[in-house]
Amino acid sequence: MRTRQYFIAANWKMHGDSLLATAMQDAIAGLSYDHSAIETVICPPFTLLNVLHERDGLAVGAQNVHQNASGAYTGEISTAMLKTAGCRYVIVGHSERRELFAEDDALVASKFVAIAQAGLRPILCVGETLEQREQGVTESVLTAQLDAVISMTASADWLHAVIAYEPVWAIGTGMTATPEQAQTVHQFIRQYLAKQSVTADIADSVRIVYGGSVKPDNAQSLFAQADIDGGLIGGASLHPQDFTAIICAADGCVKE
Ligand code: PGA
Repeated sequence: MRTRQYFIAANWKMHGDSLLATAMQDAIAGLSYDHSAIETVICPPFTLLNVLHERDGLAVGAQNVHQNASGAYTGEISTAMLKTAGCRYVIVGHSERRELFAEDDALVASKFVAIAQAGLRPILCVGETLEQREQGVTESVLTAQLDAVISMTASADWLHAVIAYEPVWAIGTGMTATPEQAQTVHQFIRQYLAKQSVTADIADSVRIVYGGSVKPDNAQSLFAQADIDGGLIGGASLHPQDFTAIICAADGCVKE
């Protein structure tokens, strides 16, 4: 029996327009699933935040935020602005931000703190590259990424956080981790959190979702794993039919 609510989030990256936002909202509204068992989130580009509206079973998230509350930071956006725009979640530490925008562990940690302390919910992305997996250092990469955040946070900051395990080699490549590979890592992350005093209380309840080429045809086998609590979906979340099929894959797991 599952105790954690599934979490299925769309990461639109720098894609999408108001037509897609409306089509996606309508497609999700047309599904009938148990909202207490599955939470659905759309993280569109900033300019679409005001087009999407939180409603029963559907929340809205942002893809980035600045760590400071306000100031002379041309081109940046604050947690308060995101709250005003109706956001509940914020993605932080995505590998594209880490790689393409040089966001290091310390910056990711300070953003996580800003998000949590503003009353928003961080979706913290962690994951290893192919090279790191082949070198057998996946676990130490993940613990370093987690430790950076743990060292700057209190238990309360983790209460509503979601962790997204996103192996970099699986993002946008069509190469998905097998359900067993992903489950092994998710279980490792949960056990690791339990060992850390700051997160011990919430290790059982924190949702750990998988990201990296989740598609309608592999979603159900991933979501059926004991420690996989949903997904962070990129490419497939740009197609209402695919994204709703992925939501329904979680529904299938709930009913099992
Ligand atoms: P993908 O992206 O589903 O296109 O692999 C996932 C992500 O980057 O969050």
